[in-house]
This record gives sequence, structure tokens and C-alpha cells, in this order.
Amino acid sequence: MELHPMWNAYPTLQNELGETLSLMENAVRLKNKPVEQAVLQMIHAGGKMLRPAYQLLFSGFGPERDRKKATAIAAAIEMLHTATLIHDDIVDEADLRRGLPSVRSQFGNSVAVYAGDYLFVSCFKLMSNYASSMKSLQIHSRSMESILNGELGQMNNRYKIDLSVDAYLEAISGKTAELFALSCAIGAYESGTSRKFAEQAGKIGLAIGMAFQIMDDILDYTQDQTNLGKPVLEDVKQGVYSLPLILALETDATQLRPLLEKRAQLSDKDQKFIFDLVHELGGVTRAHHYAQKYTDEALTLIQKLPTTPGNEREQLATLTKTILFRQS
Ligand code: IPE
Ligand code: IPE
Ligand code: MG
Ligand code: MG
Repeated sequence: MELHPMWNAYPTLQNELGETLSLMENAVRLKNKPVEQAVLQMIHAGGKMLRPAYQLLFSGFGPERDRKKATAIAAAIEMLHTATLIHDDIVDEADLRRGLPSVRSQFGNSVAVYAGDYLFVSCFKLMSNYASSMKSLQIHSRSMESILNGELGQMNNRYKIDLSVDAYLEAISGKTAELFALSCAIGAYESGTSRKFAEQAGKIGLAIGMAFQIMDDILDYTQDQTNLGKPVLEDVKQGVYSLPLILALETDATQLRPLLEKRAQLSDKDQKFIFDLVHELGGVTRAHHYAQKYTDEALTLIQKLPTTPGNEREQLATLTKTILFRQS
């Protein structure tokens, strides 16, 4: 099992993320072999493990030093994330994930639905074994509800050419940022910090998650499929308009509108033309400013965190800056 090379710069965290992966692997026991194989393949495919990393870093702020518990909760969070990816690829009809054929394209939709369901169940099993109170489970299920609502919001917004920046921000806040918020808040809370501190951690996570999803949407316009390990520009054809496109439309919709009106009938040439227009109209540059704004917001709050023996504050700041400059 290979961890992403970015963790070489964080040796303690790297160890704990390795532990987290083993815990995930050991938690998967299924009689149905195709579903088991699908789940294990996703676990081994080399996800970045960002959400567990934030959770583990925030668990350094409380008085409790139970690393077994911290890594178990990290595993639960990564399982939840993995489940949403498997299901997301069904909805998005995506063939590639983490550089491999997606679960749905390799095993079919039924296996993909059950593999995702199994991961949701495993997440709750782990959480209920390790969480110290009902409060954590409440926060956890509220966060899952937000992810679902974000996804549903995005589905309702499909093919809306006049989609506002605010509507986009609301959708990504639910579908992505809430899970980062949860990771940070639970990390802190389960290590014994005050509720107030955990809320502040959640705020930091929310800003990080916003910057992260905006960057993900920018990468759709700046990187190729081989580098990302997942399809690019499929979103536009399916009517999911992300920030670079929304901002380009805001600048000048004359050429973009007739193209987008073709909906799923967009040809490869049309897609390339949209891609070029989004760049020319400054959509990518302006989207970067938004990512920068959320990163700055997170960094300002991180600076206010107390110092800890494990230097978590500095690691949080470095990691958060890295996300803004990532290329994959
Ligand atoms: C992908 O998340 C889904 C988004 C919210 C953009 P990641 O980029 O963290 O996915 P993995 O886990 O590294 O594959
Ligand atoms: C991410 O959405 C999926 C969730 C957060 C549930 P996207 O559809 O934008 O992510 P990718 O690009 O497929 O990873
Ligand atoms: Mg997708
Ligand atoms: Mg995407």
C-alpha cells in the first residue's frame, strides 16, 4: 500500500495515515467477493487521504493521546469519503478514478451502489465503536446530510446557464467543504478539546474545503486526464457548471451561451472551444482569486491556534498552502 508522496514531508502524520489505511483494509470483510474486491481496490488505489490528515492534525490539540482512537476515526472519515466517490462516479458516469477504471465501469452499477453502501455502514460501525459521545455521531450524520444536500443542489442546478456564483458556492459547501469541516471538528472534539475549539476547527475546515473544491474545478481546465487520474471536462457536458465557467459567463456569455445550449450534444470540438473561451474570458484566473481568498481565510484562523508539542499548527499551515498550488 503506497501513500501519496506528499506525506514524506510529515513523518509522524505519514505513519498514522499508514495505520489508517491498514485499519480500513482490515475492516473490510464481505462474503460477496466482487463488492469486497471493488472496495479494496479503491482503498489501495492511492487516494490523497487529505481529510484523515486534517482530522489527525486537529487531534493534536486536545489533552487525549489515544492514537488508536484517532486513527480509527480517521479510517471512518476516509471510508465515508470513498463511499461518496464511488457513488459520485455512478451519477457522473465517470470511467476513471484514481488512475484506474472506476468501480462502476469495472464492476457495473449494482456492485458500485453496494460497495458505496458498505463503506457508509463501515464508517458508522467504526464511529460508533470509537466516538466518545452521541454528540460526535450527531455532528457526523448532520455532515452526511449536508453532503447529500450539496449533491442534490448541484443536480437541481444542472444546465443552468445563469447559475450564480453564490449558488455554486452553496453547492460545494455542502458536497465537499462540510466533510473537511467535519474532519477538523471531530479531530479536535474527540481529542478532548472544548466544543468551542471544535467549532473553530470546523470553520477552518470549511474554508479549506471550499478552496480545495475550487482548485479541483480549476484543475478540470488546466490539467489532463492522465495527470489527474479522473476524467476532465465531463462536467460541462452533463450540465455541471463550475466556478471557472460561471465566471467566464459572467464576463461575456455571447459565445458560450449557444454552445452550452447544446447540452449533452456538445462535440469534442465544442468542448475544446468552451475550454479556450473560459481561459480567454479570465474564468480560470478569477476562480484562482476565490481559492486564494478561502485559503487566506483558513490561514488567518490557523495562525490563531495555540502551539502544541507536535507542531500541528505549522503542519496545518503548510498543508493548506500546498493544496492551493497542487497540480493533481
Ligand atoms: C475528490 O477528492 C472529490 C472532491 C471533493 C473534489 P480527492 O481529490 O481528495 O480524492 P482522492 O481521495 O485523493 O482520490
Ligand atoms: C466530488 O464531486 C464528489 C463529492 C464531493 C461527493 P466532483 O464530481 O466534482 O468530484 P470529482 O471531480 O468527480 O472527483
Ligand atoms: Mg465527479
Ligand atoms: Mg470535479
